[in-house]
Amino acid sequence: MLYVTGITGHSGHWFVKRLVNEDYKGKIRCVVRDGSDTDFLDKSGLDIEKVVGDLNDQDFLTSTMRGCNTVLHIASIIYSKKVVNAAAHNNVEWAILVHTTGRYSKYKSASAEYIAIENDVLKCRERMGITVLRPTMIYGSSRDRNMYKLISFLHKIKFFPMFGEGKNLMQPVHARDLGNAYYDVILNRSNTFNKDYNLSGKQPLSYLELVRTVSNALGRYNIIIKIPLWFSVLAARLYNVVDKRAIISVEQVLRMQEDKAFGYEEAMRDFAYSPISFKEGIVEEVNEYLAKNNSSRTKQR
Ligand SMILES: NC(=O)c1ccc[n+]([C@@H]2O[C@H](COP(=O)([O-])OP(=O)(O)OC[C@H]3O[C@@H](n4cnc5c(N)ncnc54)[C@H](OP(=O)(O)O)[C@@H]3O)[C@@H](O)[C@H]2O)c1
Repeated sequence: MLYVTGITGHSGHWFVKRLVNEDYKGKIRCVVRDGSDTDFLDKSGLDIEKVVGDLNDQDFLTSTMRGCNTVLHIASIIYSKKVVNAAAHNNVEWAILVHTTGRYSKYKSASAEYIAIENDVLKCRERMGITVLRPTMIYGSSRDRNMYKLISFLHKIKFFPMFGEGKNLMQPVHARDLGNAYYDVILNRSNTFNKDYNLSGKQPLSYLELVRTVSNALGRYNIIIKIPLWFSVLAARLYNVVDKRAIISVEQVLRMQEDKAFGYEEAMRDFAYSPISFKEGIVEEVNEYLAKNNSSRTKQR
């Protein structure tokens, strides 16, 4: 029995699609919340048992994990300790935890919590196999919280302000590549048991290239205004002095300059991970945005 958290999320959807495509016959128990949208799960034809509860609830996790031998924890690193506790209590053989490349940030405010949680849960490797998957920024549809906002901004506004030169590298990963990776990790257990993998997009691109790629996919000619870093930092500092609820901090401006490109050679070697490029992947998200935008305009008329 496979136990899954976060199956109703962005990459969870793609994992379910892959299970369906592969005609997966195994039993799956998945955690959903009261308000989770489970329509696609109910219609999937998979052998799915839903357990309704919250991942903050240790007793719920421990009691519902009974009888499961593998856990795929997609929901969030903040629940990993409780998930691993429940797994240890139930003698689970293998826990696959979806964490984040955020642990590699040189800014402690971004990485310290992730490192602390991960180091803590990995102590349980003596009791069970723990495989850690670390995605970079996830994109791919209106379900993401990053690229969709950028698409909307570039579609509506001609000018795009960029803090610094935009030379920092990024390597966003498409949610479909992640969903497929979850499946392939499980399938290739003899290679992937107890290992760690970064999961990123095909190749790195600079932030400037990324914005231009989205702009091109939209068929727009956005004018990118580069704001010198020294000025951006000064402006953020002043902004934070005058507004205690400022939506951007000095550190966030500096963090934007950090490279967030991570290789995936181990994943390629162990389970043939082969992600698509950002240029290919962003087109469908842009098309989804344009289709929604056109239909809401038509309704308004
Ligand atoms: N977004 C990024 O750029 C990014 C970058 C690196 C790593 N990650 C990590 O990668 C993983 C996969 O991301 P994703 O974008 O596919 O996920 P997502 O779309 O954010 O979905 C989160 C899932 O977790 C469930 N969930 C959240 N809190 C819960 C709780 N308290 N109790 C029960 N279920 C709960 C949600 O249920 P509902 O459907 O009820 O909301 C949903 O199914 C996550 O661990 C995420 O933190 C994300």
